[in-house]
Amino acid sequence: MGNMKLTLKIWRQSGPNDKGRIVDYPVNNVSEDMSFLEMLDVLNDQLIREGKDPVAFDHDCREGICGMCSLFINGEPHGPGRGITTCQLHMRKFKDGDTIFIEPWRSAAFPVIKDLSTNRSAFDRIQAAGGFVSVNTSGNLVDGNAVPIPKDDADKAFDAATCIGCGACVATCPNGSAMLFVAAKVSQFALLPQGRPEAKRRALAMVEQMDKEGFGNCSNTGACEVECPKQISLEHIARLNREYLAATVTKE
Ligand code: SF4
Ligand code: FES
Repeated sequence: MGNMKLTLKIWRQSGPNDKGRIVDYPVNNVSEDMSFLEMLDVLNDQLIREGKDPVAFDHDCREGICGMCSLFINGEPHGPGRGITTCQLHMRKFKDGDTIFIEPWRSAAFPVIKDLSTNRSAFDRIQAAGGFVSVNTSGNLVDGNAVPIPKDDADKAFDAATCIGCGACVATCPNGSAMLFVAAKVSQFALLPQGRPEAKRRALAMVEQMDKEGFGNCSNTGACEVECPKQISLEHIARLNREYLAATVTKE
C-alpha cells in the first residue's frame, strides 16, 4: 500500500452513441511503485466495492508488447516519458496531490467503445490489405537465413517491425493521420529481399485502405515520432512516400 492521494478526471462514456463527460474520482493508497494500469485497478476495485460501474480500459500484456493500452494522460498519448507505453508508466512520475486527466484516443477512425476503450480495428484492416509476405508453404521453403541482407537494412527493418500498432501516432497527430503506422508496416518488408516481390501491391493497397478508414493526411508535424512508444522514425514515412510513388508510376 502506498500513500499518494490523487484526483483522477476520467472520460466516462457508456457507449459509442453516448456524449460522454469527465468524472472526478479521488483515489488513495497509491504506491509510486505501481504501474499506471495498477493504479486504475485500485480505482476499479474501489468502484466495484461501492457497487459502481468500473472504468473500461484496454490492456493485455502489460509489458509494452501488445499495443492494447492506449490512454491519453494529461494530454499526452501514453502519458509523460518517452519510449514507453501506458502499461510501462509508473506512478513515480506523479506526486502526491496531483490531478490527472485520463482520456481515450481521439480520432474519427478510432470510435469509442466505452469509457477509455476505442475500436482500433481500422489498423487490422490496413494490415490485412497488404502487411504480409505471401509464402509458398508446400515444402520447398528457403531458410530465411540463406538470403544475405546488409546489416544496416536488417537493423532498419527490425526497427520498423517493432511497431506494436498502439495508435498513439494517430491520437497525437492534429490531422489524425496513420502514416507512421502504415510506414512502419510497409518499411519492415520494403527493406528486405523477401518483401520486394509484393512491394508495389503492398504500398498501394495499404495506403488505399488507410484512406478508406478516414485517417487524415500527413503534414509532417512530427508529433507521431515524438509520442511513439517504439520511437519509430519519420524516415519510414519518407520511405513509404517513395514506395508509393514508385508503385504509382510503374503500376502493372
Ligand atoms: S508507429 Fe508507434 S505510435 Fe504508431 S502504432 Fe506503431 S508503435 Fe504505436
Ligand atoms: S498492455 Fe500490452 S503494450 Fe501495454
